[in-house]
Amino acid sequence: MAVDTPLINPLREGLVDGRRPQPFTLVIFGAAGDLAHRKLFPALYNLLLDHWLPNHFNIVGIARQPYSDDQFRHEVESAIRQFSRRPWEADEFSRFADEIHYITANFDDPQAYVQLRDILGQISKRQHIPHNYLFYMATPPSFYPKIAQHLGDAGLNRPVEDTDWVRVIVEKPFGRDLHSAQDLNTQLHQVFDERQIFRIDHYLGKETVQNILVFRFANGIFEPLWTHQYIDHVQITVAESLGVEGRGSYYDNAGAIRDMVQNHMLQLVSLIAMEPPVAFEADAVRDEKLKVLRAIRPFTTRDVAEYTVRAQYDSGLIDGTMVPGFLDEPDIASDSRTDTYVALRLLIDNWRWAGVPFYLRTGKRLAKRATEIAIQFKTAPHRFFSQTATPELEPNVLTLKIQPDEGIALRFGAKVPGPVVRIRTVNMEFLYGTSFADAAPEAYERLLLDSMIGDSTLFTRKDEVEAAWTLVTSILQGWARAKNPVPTYESGSWGPPEADQLVSRDGFRWRRP
Ligand code: BG6
Repeated sequence: MAVDTPLINPLREGLVDGRRPQPFTLVIFGAAGDLAHRKLFPALYNLLLDHWLPNHFNIVGIARQPYSDDQFRHEVESAIRQFSRRPWEADEFSRFADEIHYITANFDDPQAYVQLRDILGQISKRQHIPHNYLFYMATPPSFYPKIAQHLGDAGLNRPVEDTDWVRVIVEKPFGRDLHSAQDLNTQLHQVFDERQIFRIDHYLGKETVQNILVFRFANGIFEPLWTHQYIDHVQITVAESLGVEGRGSYYDNAGAIRDMVQNHMLQLVSLIAMEPPVAFEADAVRDEKLKVLRAIRPFTTRDVAEYTVRAQYDSGLIDGTMVPGFLDEPDIASDSRTDTYVALRLLIDNWRWAGVPFYLRTGKRLAKRATEIAIQFKTAPHRFFSQTATPELEPNVLTLKIQPDEGIALRFGAKVPGPVVRIRTVNMEFLYGTSFADAAPEAYERLLLDSMIGDSTLFTRKDEVEAAWTLVTSILQGWARAKNPVPTYESGSWGPPEADQLVSRDGFRWRRP
């Protein structure tokens, strides 16, 4: 008799049963900033409309901009009006947060944390709710250690009662190399336990990214094929048509490898390559992802030269408009060698993936915005159809379309109707837009809700972040030693010719998303 061992996440089962998060107060450091306005306030508002928020929910914003509580409330309102995926409804907003407060302060002013503790205590007392606190670090990363330290000094890092909870959400970038990421982990751990720390990678909040595990492990037909025996190679593309968009000073210090590869792309690799976890539960899932990161073959200096390509965008046409090159963007050093494009080849040295190359590429100012994972299968072992029957026959490719046209497509050969045998490649396609009536929630909605219920499955763990940085740091070190000029690519193109050579050397070509 088959034994049924479902993948269970007790925290999420609670939500299915209609339980909502416990009452809590969200404290946003950097509440006057872009992230809070564009993502956090709208996400909270949409969670409210979907009835996911608890009966009592409060916000305390902290930032340097001088606002009164009323002005801050007005800011929250206008952010929701401007950026929410659902339309503004004044009645709904009146139920939004029981209390909205604002503290004008420098993040390194100890007095601010005393004031914060008083406000939090008063809110709990007035509403008769537990001291459940969710601290959100939406500031430049240099402030993270200081904020954590001050929260600790004010005694805000530990629950007041055993049944209360205190959690901290840390935004990316989490460090800029292995050493700084380890330092940041150490500093956070001086104040918070690992289970209190929720490191955000917003790609994990995307529906299509979560669907990778469902696709692989809730269906019987794909997983048996998911090995080196049947898979030829994997291509992961994260293409953006936008440039650095006013974030020049951050980006010039980061580059595409820190901005996209270390976090989002290596997370995609882990989800595609991981073994089935024993349960759909935070540590079980993250243990398996970590094993993948650790199995990626390290890059020697020679490997960096051979298997990585970095490049910078030059001017060019995007949607018919001429855009400037990277070096002419504001806040970019005129001699910058920062990568706005990266392509690389990874090998995962384990039983399942031996010999299967994973090609990753990401870049700004590319021909279009498209994120997809293409799994290319090996061809049939023996071709008994004649060459003339199959002039266009391509390999089977399964494409997980992460955005913007969310869905999954499978390409295979089909007989062209008629008296002679001719085979043409056709597409079998699932589209979210046609299969599901409701629009998918934004990544931040899901991630905020998970942090409220204490589910860290979709947040990166300390060892995962460090394993990803170990790999990326070896590439950064190889690049630092290289003296050759950084290639350029025309804005609106698909990247530099060097990236095409990276795959053509192995007999492949990049797919056109
Ligand atoms: C962010 C990067 O993490 O992800 C940005 O800092 C990038 O540079 C963005 O544009 C891409 O996210 P998305 O959800 O638009 O693919």
